[in-house]
Amino acid sequence: MDSSTRIEQALNAALARVETPAAPSKLASAMRYSVFPRGARVRPRLCLAAAAACGDDQPALTDAAAASIELLHCASLIHDDLPCFDDAPLRRGKPSVHVAYGERIAVLAGDALIVLAFEQLSYVACSPERLPHVMRIVGQSVGMPSGIAAGQAWECEPFCDLVEYHEQKTGALFSAATMLGAAAAGHDPEPWKVVGAKLGLAYQVADDLRDAASDEEELGKPIGRDAALGRPSAVRDLGIDGAMHRLETLVKEAIAGIPPCQGAGDLRALIMSEAKRLVPKRLAAAAA
Ligand code: IPE
Ligand code: IPE
Ligand code: MG
Ligand code: MG
Repeated sequence: MDSSTRIEQALNAALARVETPAAPSKLASAMRYSVFPRGARVRPRLCLAAAAACGDDQPALTDAAAASIELLHCASLIHDDLPCFDDAPLRRGKPSVHVAYGERIAVLAGDALIVLAFEQLSYVACSPERLPHVMRIVGQSVGMPSGIAAGQAWECEPFCDLVEYHEQKTGALFSAATMLGAAAAGHDPEPWKVVGAKLGLAYQVADDLRDAASDEEELGKPIGRDAALGRPSAVRDLGIDGAMHRLETLVKEAIAGIPPCQGAGDLRALIMSEAKRLVPKRLAAAAA
């Protein structure tokens, strides 16, 4: 089965658990609305690629871990778009969850997806000693002191270090993706941290560039939010050229951070194609 089918099936299986006749239908519908149709699914693809490089001997656990990461990502997008955060009405080319369902359902959909991300891991038939490692990596990537919650909270502090902010709000889920791939396959996750972390930083620098130099149609989400909201961003600190240079450096560092393994070539190809996809078309054309 290819990676994409595995990921979509695992997400469907997780969501099916909440879609019971007794469940409040608006909340169940909002949860599905935020997960499908898909975005880039870059984090679960990264998780599967890392697992493949480590032998992927328990694919059911890998799939559940990948689903967990994507459910958390979707939850983070719902909360990030709320009026009290970025107040963004569009996501993946359609109305954001709070626009489509109202703010109260949006808050609950994010909450319920976070809980589901953990709960669905408990149903996997796998070597039981692997689960605590997986749970810890997932928890650390979304919580405090260095996961998404921490990263988003820097926006409420008077001073914030850009790299730390990016590492926590975006990098943590990427490093969790590569570490989870390794942990699900029974390998030490630590050597897999740096490749995910660097790629996550690259991804957020690219997102800052796209916010400044892309358009709403290309992105399927509003542009110009960072400047409008006074957010710390790579473009604000480094300018467009500086941010482009930093993106290139981070992609190189991510590739250099791939642990020696059989699947290194595939992982390198995945990182290169993501790096290409992420640069706004206008800037890519100017650099060519
Ligand atoms: C958006 O992530 C949020 C950031 C961390 C930049 P993605 O660009 O991966 O969003 P989707 O899942 O493809 O919509
Ligand atoms: C990305 O934040 C990280 C999270 C959603 C936690 P942004 O606010 O920069 O992402 P976009 O641009 O809305 O996707
Ligand atoms: Mg934000
Ligand atoms: Mg945002």
